[in-house]
This record gives sequence, C-alpha cells and structure tokens, in this order.
Amino acid sequence: MTEKDWDQLAAVYESEVCDIFVRDRRQVIAGWLEDGGLLDDDCSVLDVGCGIGSFFKKYGSRFGEKLGADHSQKMLGIASRICRRQNAIEWKQADVKALPAEMSGKGELVVCSNVITFVSLPDCWKAMTGVARCARKGGWVMLVQPALESHDRVARLEKWHAPVRHGDSAVVQRDDRRQRFFSETGAGELAKSAGLKSVEVRKVWYPWIDEGITSPLRGEELPWDWLVTGRR
Ligand SMILES: C[S@@+](CC[C@H](N)C(=O)[O-])C[C@H]1O[C@@H](n2cnc3c(N)ncnc32)[C@H](O)[C@@H]1O
Repeated sequence: MTEKDWDQLAAVYESEVCDIFVRDRRQVIAGWLEDGGLLDDDCSVLDVGCGIGSFFKKYGSRFGEKLGADHSQKMLGIASRICRRQNAIEWKQADVKALPAEMSGKGELVVCSNVITFVSLPDCWKAMTGVARCARKGGWVMLVQPALESHDRVARLEKWHAPVRHGDSAVVQRDDRRQRFFSETGAGELAKSAGLKSVEVRKVWYPWIDEGITSPLRGEELPWDWLVTGRR
C-alpha cells in the first residue's frame, strides 16, 4: 500500500483497523513494558509507522521524549489530535524504508507495530534495518507482526484458501489489502536479520470479533499477533 492509500484510510482508520494496544486483552504488551522497566520518564521512545498514535495514546504519558513517524501526513494529523493531551510529542513524516539519519540511535525503545508487512521481502528487511538503527546501542525494539499461524486457523474456520508460503512468511489478501504475515520463526528471523539480540517472540491475543467471527468453536485459542522484542 502506498502513502496515498494510507492517507485515504486515515479518516476511517479508528473504526476499521484493530488497535492492538487496546485489544491486547491479556495485557501482554503492558506486561512486557512493565517487566523491562520501560514505562519510565527517562525512557525516550520512537514509534515508527505510528498511524493515528494508538501506542502513545495508551502508553505515552508513562515515557519521556517521544517521536512518532509515519509516511502518511493524514495519519500524523489525526495522531497529533488524538495525543494532544500528552506532553510534547514530535511528529515526523518519514518512510520506514529510508529513515532520516537524525533518527538513528535516538530511542531507548523503538516501537514498530503492524508496519513491516510489505509484499516485498527485501522491503521488509530494509525497513527492519532502519527501525533497529533507531534504537540506541543496548536499547529495545518492539515489533508487532501479523501471525501466519493465526491467519491459517481463521482461514480454516472461514474456509478460505491458505496463502502460498515463501519460507517463513506469506502474502495474505484480505479485502483489498495485501500484507505479509510471518510465522513465529519468520518473525524472529526478521528481527535477527537486523542484528537484534535476545530476540523473543510472544503471542498478543485479541478478540475473535476483530476477525469478524462471532461464534468461534468453544475452547478455541484466540487469534493473535506476534510481539517481537530484541535489543540492539
Ligand atoms: C496498520 S497501520 C499500524 C499503525 C500503528 N503502528 C498501530 O499499530 O496502530 C500501518 C501504518 O504504517 C504506515 N506505513 C506503511 N508503510 C509505511 C512506510 N513505508 N513508511 C512509513 N510508514 C508507513 C501507514 O501509514 C500506517 O499508519
């Protein structure tokens, strides 16, 4: 999807797209931030591909310096409105595949949620490298990536065709969007490809209704995204 596509989506984004930071009903993300001591005034945070600012809306008041970057000016406009009650957040228009040098080494924590989903794998690697570079040495990167195994289960329930896999990822078509989903291994390898260390991959579960499923089989595990964390 291009910058223009995202600009067009911006207006309906709040209602159309699942906000994983709110939908994370088991508080996996909050728990990870808390356990790492990252919810702290001294923690500088960059959110790359920040969209309408959902991450800062939920957690921003707990951090120090904050920068939200996105290539869509419309997304940034909504983000600055939604987060207007937070202490100053710098908003920056930037392409995750060509991040400006001034963002390098800035973050104690760098967040990139549901952004590195490009159809082109080389684009995913390029974006991953740029995102990792935004963390200071020893700082943390936190990715949220769409999970292929979760999609496969939804596809089975909905009787959709399973996507064609390319190694540890696959391009999934949903409505008019094509996005790359990653297996657990693929999500970890993506982070490692940028030199991140201590990489861990966890599930962040969200409600069935976010997949449009109103009556899942009893006892069926909730759908999930991958929370991928690593240190620069
Ligand atoms: C699915 S949304 C996720 C938004 C937010 N991170 C969240 O989790 O709520 C993807 C966001 O990535 C942005 N994006 C997509 N491609 C990008 C690129 N090449 N450079 C910068 N931002 C990009 C889109 O504009 C959109 O705001």
